[in-house]
Parts: sequence; C-alpha cells; structure tokens
Amino acid sequence: MSRIAYVNGQYVPHKSATVHIEDRGYQFADGVYEVITIDNGTLVDEGLHLKRLDRSLDELRIAKPMPDRALRTVIREVIRRNRVQNGIIYIQMTRGVAPRDHAFPKGIETAVVMTSRRAKLASPQALAEGVRVITIPDLRWARCDIKSVSLLPNILGKQRAREAGAYEAWQVDRDGNVTEGTSTNAWIITKDGEVVTRAATNSILNGVTRLGIISLIEQAGLRFVERPFSVAEAKAAKEAFISSATSYVMPVVRIDESPVGNGRPGEFAGRLRDFYSRYAAHGGRDA
Ligand code: PDD
Repeated sequence: MSRIAYVNGQYVPHKSATVHIEDRGYQFADGVYEVITIDNGTLVDEGLHLKRLDRSLDELRIAKPMPDRALRTVIREVIRRNRVQNGIIYIQMTRGVAPRDHAFPKGIETAVVMTSRRAKLASPQALAEGVRVITIPDLRWARCDIKSVSLLPNILGKQRAREAGAYEAWQVDRDGNVTEGTSTNAWIITKDGEVVTRAATNSILNGVTRLGIISLIEQAGLRFVERPFSVAEAKAAKEAFISSATSYVMPVVRIDESPVGNGRPGEFAGRLRDFYSRYAAHGGRDA
C-alpha cells in the first residue's frame, strides 16, 4: 500500500511529497508540530494536542491555517488514506514560504504538512525489562514549552543515548535538576509513594501524556507532587519512568550507571501504565 501525505491542501503520494526550498521551516526551523497517537483507531487526547498546537502557534505569532473542525477532518482523512489503526499522525505547521529574511514576511500563508504511519507503541521487551537513560546537560533555549521543530539539542542528546545503548537522555539544568528527556517527560516515584515530575514552566514541554497521567495518579492510589528533582535523587528513587505520546508510561531501570530500585520495572509505574493505557484506549479526555 502506498502512503499518502497531506501537503498544503493536497493529498499526495508520500514518495513525491515536497515543500518549497524557501519554506521557513526548512531555512529557520520557523515552525511547530504535534504527534498524536492512534490507539486501535482512536486518537488519544486529540483535543489537548490541538490546544497545545494553538498555543505554540500563538507564542510564535504564526497564523492558524484552519479552524479546528477542518483540522480534525484532515487528520481523519490522512489516517483513513493510510489505513492506520495503531500508529501516529504527525502535524507540522510553518510560517510559510518567502524569500529568506529573518523578520516575518508579510502576506504569506502558514504551510501545513501531515503524515501518518503505523507504529508499535513500545517493544514488549522494553516494557518488560524497562529502559536505560543517560544524563546530559540541557543545552536548549528558554522556551522549551513551545513545541517547535527546532530540535538540534534534542537530536544530539538522543543520538548520545543511542550510542550509549540507552533509550533516552535526561537533560539536566545548571542546578543539577532534571528538566525532561529529549522527546519525553521525566518522572520519579519516591520511597514515600510520591509521583514527582517537574512543573510545566518554560523549561519543559507540557506533555499531553504528562497531563493525562497527572489526572490519573490519585485514582491509582498514589500522590502527585510537582517539583524539580536532582539526578542524585532520581538515582536513589524507588522507581522512575518516562512519558510521551509514543511511549505512554515507560519504566526506567537505570540512570547512567546506577540501577533504579532493584533494577526491574517498578510496581507503581506498572500501575500507572495500566491506568494510562485504559485512558488512552478510550481517547483520553476527548471521549
Ligand atoms: N515528543 N518533551 C519533549 C521535549 C517532547 O518532544 C515530547 C514529545 C514530550 C512528551 O509530550 P507528549 O506527551 O505530548 O508526547 C516531552 C514527541 C512524541 C516527538 O517529538 O516525537
């Protein structure tokens, strides 16, 4: 089956889908994106993703290209044409195409690209055994709350993790506290059963999965605490995990060379994963 992409109003074969060389996303990384999971044909938290997309566009003063109703129609059409039951849809919006000039060009239209592909959420092995993370300095800018396509520090960090045989790299701020992973939010569970993640300031992306998990912690019989945590605290924690649209809740069993807890996926992270998986299967909060 050949894949179909949506490019600026048209559905085109993925193989021949192109954008202009002066698209500002290409030249300046002047754009934003979202990744939404499709879980057994259901979009997970579509409303929260579209809300965050709006916020990212607003913060960068990029014009919203179409109302949500139209956007939701195109999303469904891209998924339908690619026959994706389990996978992701990628949505990218850039300021548009114009002769290269740093300042905003006048009278251009926001460029929109969408692709969808089948994907397994997480390998059963990673889930059963947990994953490793390394820690790296956070080299990013002061607006990590915007889901911008400008991802150089993130890709360099993820590559370092790959080369170290790890799944993710946790970025660490100047105070020695973990901000987040390169494409995931970072969590620990303390010996007192507190589920801890950093507050959603400009230092992290406010993950939609993060918000879903927060809404489930009490039901899961645990306590939620929003505060920074250091690498040392994480290494000494009872459990750790990461979250994202594509990982859901993924247990972390090693940070650098230190095992977390007994080095096996923890009970509480497992419980949160079960709660979140059920929540996602029902579409999250949009259901
Ligand atoms: N990444 N932090 C960063 C830096 C991210 O890039 C992401 C998402 C998250 C988790 O956000 P959410 O729960 O909304 O997926 C946190 C996506 C999946 C990506 O870049 O592919």
